[in-house]
Amino acid sequence: METLVNNISIEKSSSSKIGSVDFDNLPFGSIYTDHMLVCEYVDGDWERPKIKPYANLSLDPASKIFHYGQSIFEGMKAYKDEDGQAWLFRPEDNHARLNISASRMAMPELPKEYFMEGLTALLQLEKDWIPTTEGSSLYIRPFMFASGVGFHASPADRYTFLICLAPSGPYFGGKVKVLIEEKFARAANGGVGYAKAGGNYAAQFYPTKLAVEKGYQQVIWTDDNTHEFIEEAGAMNIFVRINDTLLTAPTNDRILDGITRKSILELAKAEGIQTEVRKVKVSEVVDAAQNGSLKELFGAGTAAVVSPIAGFGYQGKDYELPELENSFAKRLKKRITDIQYNKVEDPFGWRF
Ligand code: COI
Repeated sequence: METLVNNISIEKSSSSKIGSVDFDNLPFGSIYTDHMLVCEYVDGDWERPKIKPYANLSLDPASKIFHYGQSIFEGMKAYKDEDGQAWLFRPEDNHARLNISASRMAMPELPKEYFMEGLTALLQLEKDWIPTTEGSSLYIRPFMFASGVGFHASPADRYTFLICLAPSGPYFGGKVKVLIEEKFARAANGGVGYAKAGGNYAAQFYPTKLAVEKGYQQVIWTDDNTHEFIEEAGAMNIFVRINDTLLTAPTNDRILDGITRKSILELAKAEGIQTEVRKVKVSEVVDAAQNGSLKELFGAGTAAVVSPIAGFGYQGKDYELPELENSFAKRLKKRITDIQYNKVEDPFGWRF
């Protein structure tokens, strides 16, 4: 297999859309830069990645992505500091997780050089698209899908890996109200919950739609078997603060090994916050809300970073969370974004 040393072909777009973008009012993930990276897996090998003008793809209707959903993705961000330098956050962890997802979905692993060098070359070309407005970044979407054809229910023989970039503002406008799920589940033991498979997210849309109809914005996922344990928050990992202890569920078959989740855990420990990675019962959260020891609930993920929860619904009853002076969510969000935007030293070596 070829090793790439910036050996990536670049076809430049004849014009740029950048002048038409309002960088002060960026939505999340719906404006795309001028170029994308494309890499094809053919005859058992990855071809050389190419950077091309951002454009529609042409696919055979029998491509297996359409029929059997072999599709995985990653979420990352590029940040610009005050000196105009661009930074990534733990990108090698995204590459490692892409391959964990690929392996679970019977897709080929992508060599690390293809991922890292392809990403770097694309970002070098598109660096002017990295926003500098507060709370904004360039959202990076690496993804892979089955482009090989056939109605036979078996893995495809061709795959396409792409990286697209979207200058983005915040994922959520403010605090969210959530519903603790009592019936549906996003993942099951032995399933694909730990993989970043597109279908995991599609499966959330219907229960989330029902929650939205009841006046909530997101669902707190509970375990598929008993619905007694808190697992994830919407498309994010979840943190629960009871008194001054920060709790989160351990990763397993059903829970994504979130890069923000594990960074928040390390930052909390470094800040002297007591953390516990253990199963968290819904009843424990409800009891804590009733006796006043539930201080905070928040989601953690690349897109939303840290997303505070205003209150939750469970078994027909609503519970509100207090407004805190010393919020862990606020403190940890500042710690992680200060590192991401190169505002402080990075003792962990996460910045790239
Ligand atoms: C991310 O936080 O980057 C995610 O992958 C969630 C995505 C569905 C927006």
